[in-house]
Amino acid sequence: MLSTSQQRVILVTGANKGIGYEVVKKLVNELPLNNNLILLGCRDLKRGEDALIRLGSPPNVHLLHLDVSLRESITHATNKIKCKYGGQLDIIINNAAIGELELTVDIARTMFTTNYYGIKTLNEHLFPFIRENGRVINVASISGSILLSEASKDLQEKYLSSTLTTEQLDCLVEDFISAIETNTFEALGYNPKSSYLIYSVTKAAVIALTQIEARQWSGSKNVLVLSVCPGFCATDLNRNAPGARPAELGADSILHVVNAPQNELKNGCFYRDGQQLPQVYMIDDKN
Ligand SMILES: NC(=O)c1ccc[n+]([C@@H]2O[C@H](COP(=O)([O-])OP(=O)(O)OC[C@H]3O[C@@H](n4cnc5c(N)ncnc54)[C@H](OP(=O)(O)O)[C@@H]3O)[C@@H](O)[C@H]2O)c1
Repeated sequence: MLSTSQQRVILVTGANKGIGYEVVKKLVNELPLNNNLILLGCRDLKRGEDALIRLGSPPNVHLLHLDVSLRESITHATNKIKCKYGGQLDIIINNAAIGELELTVDIARTMFTTNYYGIKTLNEHLFPFIRENGRVINVASISGSILLSEASKDLQEKYLSSTLTTEQLDCLVEDFISAIETNTFEALGYNPKSSYLIYSVTKAAVIALTQIEARQWSGSKNVLVLSVCPGFCATDLNRNAPGARPAELGADSILHVVNAPQNELKNGCFYRDGQQLPQVYMIDDKN
């Protein structure tokens, strides 16, 4: 076995089931075992161990205990990557997320802590470990861009601003969470009829965060920061929705941005099934 300095090191968060698990499975089956080390992120070690067994316990897949909603877990995982894997990473796939339908402040706080702040904090901790030509992949959803197409022009402009900072994006997020309590999110420009409102705002925020991170880190180590939608896949997230496509296809959509040549991808942009998608996706754009 090569050492981590010679291997490509890939972290997938929330990889014990669903699309993240399928990503790891495809990486195991498609990549030379000796050259790639895969860190299977799981917030529950038992669930991670079960996933590892289902994969056939490949020697190049290691569990990484990581709950992205807890700062101490992120710090602990960061230290582990530093001490055990030499502080070297080539690809981070921020896949972990949750989805709840209820419209309450508590639910919103929980969802943003995982889906948005989890990615932001983890990337801040791990970006220094990313090697030359590395990639940071933030898993978002087209529901985030549909939500923006249904929002006011003023709000769209805030999310799309080419000078948006993480501090300003945090304020947009916090204003939305507060507005749930007072039932005033319409006044902020959100459309109360948007589907899966809180989830979709978390994903609009991830797509905007990706643009900011790409700007912040552009020129550094030739790293690409991209967001990706896996498409509507039958997983626990949507109670295995009938008619949804298999999670394997969602994994393919993510792996496209992992594997596509650098010159075929635009830093900061949003992709699904190898196609670049707009940050504001009008329903009429659907083909
Ligand atoms: N399925 C779809 O149709 C669809 C569409 C668009 C986008 N997406 C996105 O695709 C990604 C994967 O979703 P999925 O459908 O595969 O969902 P899933 O089957 O529910 O899997 C979610 C994974 O994230 C993990 N997770 C949740 N909270 C976590 C936390 N705080 N820390 C670490 N891991 C955590 C879960 O772990 P546990 O097993 O411990 O709960 C699980 O491994 C998500 O980002 C989702 O938003 C999915």
